[in-house]
Amino acid sequence: MFSIRLASILVLVSAALATPLSAKRQPWDQDLINLYVRDANVSLNNYAGLQSMSGFDNFRGSGNFDGSQNAQVTVIEEQQTVCHTEQIEIIQQKLVVLQEIAKRIITEQICEVETQTIVLEQFSSGLTVFQKDISRTTTKQVGYDKNVAGLVGNLTNSDGSLSTSDLGFNGTSVGSNTVVPSGSNWNNTQGPEAVQKALSAAQAAANATSAS
Ligand SMILES: *[C@@H]1O[C@H](CO)[C@@H](O)[C@H](O)[C@H]1NC(C)=O
Ligand SMILES: *[C@@H]1O[C@H](CO)[C@@H](O)[C@H](O)[C@H]1NC(C)=O
Ligand SMILES: *[C@@H]1O[C@H](CO)[C@@H](O)[C@H](O)[C@H]1NC(C)=O
Ligand SMILES: *[C@@H]1O[C@H](CO)[C@@H](O)[C@H](O)[C@H]1NC(C)=O
Ligand SMILES: *[C@@H]1O[C@H](CO)[C@@H](O)[C@H](O)[C@H]1NC(C)=O
Repeated sequence: MFSIRLASILVLVSAALATPLSAKRQPWDQDLINLYVRDANVSLNNYAGLQSMSGFDNFRGSGNFDGSQNAQVTVIEEQQTVCHTEQIEIIQQKLVVLQEIAKRIITEQICEVETQTIVLEQFSSGLTVFQKDISRTTTKQVGYDKNVAGLVGNLTNSDGSLSTSDLGFNGTSVGSNTVVPSGSNWNNTQGPEAVQKALSAAQAAANATSAS
């Protein structure tokens, strides 16, 4: 259903599972850390003997807990998506809806605290990877998978209850239809410092809240 609008597809396999180390990375970089993690081959399948953890690794693959090893394929749209600034409250509302939906899924569709803990950590680690994309310290472009994002309406049934259907994709394929909106104020001169300062300011605010 998307192909009509696609002029072409540019295959940018930027962090494929098959390429553990890319030449231009600095020695301390994430790829090295990922390589160690992958070598450790940490499996959470059947964690603590829990049936609810059966097949956990199949989704993103062993050694790909946060999805950072997924290949990214960028979709070139006929009409390029451009960012435009919206009132901050509108943004915050939407993100909190996603947060509360995540809580609902985790508490209604999982009964074991161990599994709740592990999937929540996987959810938040995926967002941590996105923060690294935003700071341009990964090989990924900053965008979203339009096919997966397009399934937002499939999370609930028409009566408002949570859907139980298979949405037809696995975690390895997330990123294979990535839209990269243009118009960001990032540039290589000011960007890194600007992101770092903003991150510190946000973390200081978060720390001040947690401490009280
Ligand atoms: C790595 O994990 C996979 C899947 O759990 C398993 O099949 C494989 O034997 C493991 N490899 C090593 C070297 O431990
Ligand atoms: C994930 O889906 C892709 C595309 O459908 C498929 O090629 C791949 O084998 C799947 N991976 C797993 C671990 O099921
Ligand atoms: C998602 O919902 C739409 C609209 O109801 C439906 O056409 C589509 O098949 C659903 N997709 C999946 C993967 O369940
Ligand atoms: C980089 O972006 C900043 C604002 O984000 C701007 O002030 C600056 O002129 C830009 N520098 C270059 C070289 O484009
Ligand atoms: C916030 O707290 C964390 C953990 O205690 C610490 O590592 C970090 O430096 C703090 N950041 C700021 C900006 O205060």
